[in-house]
Amino acid sequence: MSVVILALETSCDETAAAVVVDGSEILSNIISSQVDVHRKFGGVVPEVASRKHLELLNQVVEDALLVAGVGFGDLDAIAVTYGPGLVGALLVGVSAAKAFAYGLDIPLVGVNHLEGHIYANFLTEQDLEFPLLCLVVSGGHTDLTLVEKHGLYRVVGRTRDDAAGEAFDKVARTMGLGYPGGPLIDRLACGGDPGAVSLPRAFLEKDSLDFSFSGLKTAVINYLHRSGQRGEVVNNADLAASFQKAVTDVLVDKTLDAARETGVSTILLAGGVAANTGLRASMKEQAGRESIRVVIPPLILCTDNAAMIACTAYYKYLRGAFAPLTLNAVPDLKLGEERYEGNFKGVLISPGA
Ligand code: KG4
Ligand code: ZN
Repeated sequence: MSVVILALETSCDETAAAVVVDGSEILSNIISSQVDVHRKFGGVVPEVASRKHLELLNQVVEDALLVAGVGFGDLDAIAVTYGPGLVGALLVGVSAAKAFAYGLDIPLVGVNHLEGHIYANFLTEQDLEFPLLCLVVSGGHTDLTLVEKHGLYRVVGRTRDDAAGEAFDKVARTMGLGYPGGPLIDRLACGGDPGAVSLPRAFLEKDSLDFSFSGLKTAVINYLHRSGQRGEVVNNADLAASFQKAVTDVLVDKTLDAARETGVSTILLAGGVAANTGLRASMKEQAGRESIRVVIPPLILCTDNAAMIACTAYYKYLRGAFAPLTLNAVPDLKLGEERYEGNFKGVLISPGA
């Protein structure tokens, strides 16, 4: 018998709902982006995001059901992102999901947003064999994570300052390109010379699998400043290509180091920055030389969406890892952690069980 899950995702600035069967058949994947609303502020304004989610969510859910051709009565479970993310934004999705689950009397599955990004890979590839090494690169995170089995994670490296996506966004803002910066730099970089501007790569201590991007960001700011003082015209395409190469060189290098160290033969990419053309190409090329398989979700499943939340929820559903109706938003939820509040009387299934 198949499992039909409706998932909601409202952790940041995308209001999303999806219907997915058995964790792989995407019947609908509706994403209503608020990017135009936040662009004039140069970044996401949490209060505005929450209000927009409230306005948009019912319509997005209706569209998801309509496109999927299913009714509420066909659903086996409701899934929702309950962290990490903006607390007000998360609360909109969590409240709606609890109401649906209660009204329909079906299980509620709480999903970690980062786990969702990792599971975007299982939407298209079900033959993945553990252990897997996943580079999670988004606006808020840069983590090298060992996925030992379903729901069981070990972070082997992480950023000590800015996340990769954050560095893209900040550099783009400094260059006057707009928001969000990642896709804009990616597009510009296609026409630039990655060797034109010499920029630092932070490899940190020998054997460290951690990242640091704040020095690179400062180097770009200094370069722009110096060029301005000298009255030189900056070639934005060259600067974008050089910056992108500096980020991807470190990401690829450290990921391959981690794969060698852990003996893992499959690398997954996840999160918004996994949409980056340079990163996708370089990771595939360099891992290919060592016969390491690289799996990357299609572009639409790299950035925030609810299909990845439904997919994660499917595997949790199979092991009975349901959430209580007292589920709350947990803005600082860690990967592999469950944080349920209140008077939950059910059985808590430990991750990976
Ligand atoms: O995963 P995501 O959609 O949201 C978070 O959970 O943070 O990631 C958003 C981040 C932003 O920083 C955005 O600039 C970056 O992903 N991003 C990219 C690209 N597309 C999105 N960065 C580099 N190249 C891209 N093509
Ligand atoms: Zn995300």
